Amino acid sequence: MSMQSVHINNAVVRYGEDVVLDIPELTLEAAGQYAVIGPNGAGKTTLLRILAGTLEPSEGTVSVPQAWSVGYLPQHPFVFNLSVYRNVDMAVQDAGLSHSEREKRVNEALEIVGMSDLISARGTELSGGQAQRVTLARVFAQHHNLLLLDEPTSAMDIKGTIIVEDALKRYLDQYQATLVVCTHAPSQAQRISNKIIVLEEGRIVEQGPTVDILQNPQNEMVQEFLSYWRL
Ligand SMILES: Nc1ncnc2c1ncn2[C@@H]1O[C@H](COP(=O)(O)OP(=O)(O)O)[C@@H](O)[C@H]1O
Ligand SMILES: [Mg+2]
Repeated sequence: MSMQSVHINNAVVRYGEDVVLDIPELTLEAAGQYAVIGPNGAGKTTLLRILAGTLEPSEGTVSVPQAWSVGYLPQHPFVFNLSVYRNVDMAVQDAGLSHSEREKRVNEALEIVGMSDLISARGTELSGGQAQRVTLARVFAQHHNLLLLDEPTSAMDIKGTIIVEDALKRYLDQYQATLVVCTHAPSQAQRISNKIIVLEEGRIVEQGPTVDILQNPQNEMVQEFLSYWRL
């Protein structure tokens, strides 16, 4: 088995009697760009959490190459009531960077998410979409091998969404990073992924190249889910 990939084996997550995730086998190849799509409650966040290590599966194993640095953006990320600049600076304070390199990283990360004009604003002064951009800037300020993003643009308008998606694509190119992004929007999967994993009631019902899944889904539930997007 290649060390340069992520593996899930026989992973089950249970809350009481309820099985909310059941994944017999899943491999995520290095530098792949995976979108996890599916309706509310399908288990997208749960899958991301077992990959991030913030949730232990009830059964089974999750292995991420040990040398990989992992950036995780939870579905409801937290912004401190400090300046926008400081919120991002915190993410790199332990990275052993020189003062100037650290400043450059923070400023660049805020620039690429379109938050340069708001570096002095405080956490509580931000809209939901702005707060989300700040938390993405935190991720972009670091050099990760694996990005786990849970509905990263859910509070953003379409312009903000496209700005951060473009920044994300450049980041992935630059660091050859692997992406796993949860989204309930097939249009986002179309723009930023090359593979799709469709979850339904905790199970992978279909996976494959993004174009194939979006244009020609085989599974009936996936056809139904995507039919609303086509409207
Ligand atoms: N802490 C919890 N306790 C009980 N049930 C939970 C908990 N977290 C998630 N669930 C359940 O697990 C299922 C999957 O949730 P989630 O992974 O958040 O779905 P998604 O992100 O696709 O909307 C849902 O039915 C949800 O209610
Ligand atoms: Mg979720």
